[in-house]
Amino acid sequence: MSAPRWLFLTLLACLILAVSAAPSASTFVLTQASWNFTFSLNVDKNSDDIYFRLVSSADYAWASVGIGSQMGGSLMFVAYEGKDSKAVTISPRIASGNVEPTYAPNINVTLEPGSGILDNRFVVNARCTNCRSWAGGSLDVKSKDQPFIYAWGPSWSFISTDSKSANMQRHSQYGFFDMDMTQASSGDAGVPEGTQNSGASKIGDTRNDLNFPLSIHTLTMFGSFVILFPMGALFIRVISKVKLHYITQSFSLAIVFFGLATGIQLSKLFNMTRNFRTSHQILGLVLIGFLIIQWVLGYVHHREYLRTQHRSVYSEAHLWLGRLVIISGVLNAFLGLHLAGRSTLGFLLIVLIVTGIFAVIYFVIWSRSRRKRSALGSNRATNFRDDDPSSLGNSRMDIPLTDHAAPPAYQEDYVRPPPGSPPNRNRI
Ligand SMILES: *[C@@H]1O[C@H](CO)[C@@H](O)[C@H](O)[C@H]1NC(C)=O
Ligand SMILES: *[C@@H]1O[C@H](CO)[C@@H](O)[C@H](O)[C@H]1NC(C)=O
Repeated sequence: MSAPRWLFLTLLACLILAVSAAPSASTFVLTQASWNFTFSLNVDKNSDDIYFRLVSSADYAWASVGIGSQMGGSLMFVAYEGKDSKAVTISPRIASGNVEPTYAPNINVTLEPGSGILDNRFVVNARCTNCRSWAGGSLDVKSKDQPFIYAWGPSWSFISTDSKSANMQRHSQYGFFDMDMTQASSGDAGVPEGTQNSGASKIGDTRNDLNFPLSIHTLTMFGSFVILFPMGALFIRVISKVKLHYITQSFSLAIVFFGLATGIQLSKLFNMTRNFRTSHQILGLVLIGFLIIQWVLGYVHHREYLRTQHRSVYSEAHLWLGRLVIISGVLNAFLGLHLAGRSTLGFLLIVLIVTGIFAVIYFVIWSRSRRKRSALGSNRATNFRDDDPSSLGNSRMDIPLTDHAAPPAYQEDYVRPPPGSPPNRNRI
């Protein structure tokens, strides 16, 4: 026998042996644009063990398969990067509903050889000695269409830990499939190696998780704390529009309540936030309290002002609490982004730009009104019409600037004092 022929036959024999040695299994393959989500299951007929292989893209923080038709009561196997970037962690978890699943330490899933992060894929070869029933459900090894769920998620907030109880963010895609367990349970012990779909069928399309509560929470809180509240403050401080100020801030407060409702809804979804112990949640709730106080203070200040034409202690409190609430609200957005596992850099940039825009608007309007008032306040100005530019170009330099540094008055409610009365410097 020639050497090449001998080599060929040996290889062929090895191949046949390898194929027949691989335990038969059911395999679910979900073809994506540039990768496959693969779950292959072998139910050992001689013991209570199950063996599975899970392969998914490491471009996402985690990948998971769950036994059951929905998250609630399903036993899920979640794979994510280990402490070593070449290692994979497999975490058995159970959820009470459509919420973050919690690590189930009594489920004995262990990694078998060949597991790790290979070629930017999570590769999990695993054995479980007690996965046929668990608190809340069971695997029917006689079923021809045992339901399963799958998911992977997000392309940010990556996990790298050997801890099986790591916090995880919501999935970005998920879906459902059935598996023929009679096909999966005809083999011997061992991790299956299926790469073609066999004995499994997808149910419906892979769904995108749009995560509406998070979008609404982000938009409402951003809109109110970064845009509307500062804008409402400008309305009173720079152009003295009382009604516009009141309407904007009340409207913004209503939006905050909407954001609060979605925030509470979101909090209940995650193990980390379920008990309202994170700094973002605590500061957020304190700020809600402050905002309510701030609204009442604004009203009391206004009533007092109309009565006395002077600032009161309520005015000062309203002014300072307003500043505190806006700055703390923006800081709390950073804590929120951190909680959601998002980068804060983009938000920092937006805050700087918006602050810059507000500063320019404030400066332009304020310096204009100061020049005008300064000119009108001079003795000579009374001899000229307001709109005569020649009278504005020559303002009095002997009037101390500090007298005019206070923002302008309420124009709508200000009652002009009788002629001859001293100017009121306490107006805001
Ligand atoms: C995905 O699986 C199909 C077979 O189901 C295979 O033809 C294809 O090469 C696989 N793609 C990748 C990127 O592994
Ligand atoms: C857990 O599984 C491993 C095999 O993967 C086995 O050796 C071990 O005995 C099991 N432990 C328990 C408590 O069942």
